[in-house]
Amino acid sequence: MEEIKITRAATLKEKPESSTLVFGKNMTDHMFLVDYDEGQGWHDPRIVPYGPLQIDPAAKVLHYAEEIFEGLKAYRTADGSIQLFRVMDNIQRMNDSADRLCLPQIPAELAMAGITELVKLEQDWVPHEKDTSLYIRPFMIGLDAALGVHSSHHVQFIVIVCPVGAYYPEGLNPVKIYIEDEDVRAVKGGTGMAKTGGNYAASLRAGNRAEKKGYTQVLWLDGVHRKYIEEVGAMNVMFKVAGKILTPDLNGSVLPGITRRSCIQLLKDWGYDVEERRISAQELFDAAENGTLEEAWGTGTAAVVSPIGELAEGDKKVTINNNEIGPVTQRLYDELTGIQWGRVADPHNWITKVC
Ligand code: PLP
Ligand code: COI
Repeated sequence: MEEIKITRAATLKEKPESSTLVFGKNMTDHMFLVDYDEGQGWHDPRIVPYGPLQIDPAAKVLHYAEEIFEGLKAYRTADGSIQLFRVMDNIQRMNDSADRLCLPQIPAELAMAGITELVKLEQDWVPHEKDTSLYIRPFMIGLDAALGVHSSHHVQFIVIVCPVGAYYPEGLNPVKIYIEDEDVRAVKGGTGMAKTGGNYAASLRAGNRAEKKGYTQVLWLDGVHRKYIEEVGAMNVMFKVAGKILTPDLNGSVLPGITRRSCIQLLKDWGYDVEERRISAQELFDAAENGTLEEAWGTGTAAVVSPIGELAEGDKKVTINNNEIGPVTQRLYDELTGIQWGRVADPHNWITKVC
């Protein structure tokens, strides 16, 4: 692998107070870039001062959303060291997304080097306060400057990072979720299983409507029957119904969440029955009515494990676990964050030390 060339910023920014961090707003001093050209492969890996990209106005990414991204975090442990959680899973998922969008595969070694070298250089930006971390956003864009609808031969992979606190203003308090019955996020055969910008663009209208009604995010239904639940805007969902854990199966239109995968593993370690299957919204409303909908939560890198306190669809509305965090949700949150911040053992080898 080519050596990563580092150009340091002439002046460094003032770092924000850890207690006032807002998700995704405080970018650090540097970013990682590497170019890809067909015939030449990946070349010129470099870390440069953070700043605007120069993009041709005809670049495919600007017109046809030829973009994929990932989200992961670097965590500060009690002894001051820095570690990543399941980074190879993120790199694998980026390459799965690349496959769907006809973008080139990035060698795991190169993506890993870009991420770890940037985190090492920005290590003073990894916050110390409880529940804070450095969010890492790798992304890949198609840059061919031509308006024909074709995949690009010139591509860039970029990594930017920013210190973050809780994703939701609610913190670990339960969020209110609205079941969207008009717009759909994805259908099988589309791009729902890929982490690509277009999915999020298509979600904005429903998200705005839900926010106006006082809800935090929407819960998407499947695009064919409009009846089976899929996932929330930035997280997968799980329900505890009559002692069992239910979560939608990875049917081709749901993002295969890495936090989802981790929670399923932990729940199985603890002896829970976990059913990955189709779940209709009606099944959840019925369970709420007969008192068996015990807990609901979302899972995601940014959102971690977020309790869901209220689910609504049209004029139906149910409150879950008295709008309080339930015991399984709390245990998952504690165990997962315990592993991420190095407070508890890591039996599944999910952690990679950076420095
Ligand atoms: N679903 C969607 C649509 C997301 O954007 C995310 C966030 O990455 C997730 C689920 C959760 O995935 P992960 O746990 O890998 O962060
Ligand atoms: C993440 O959890 O990393 C995400 O990508 C969610 C994001 C859309 C805010």
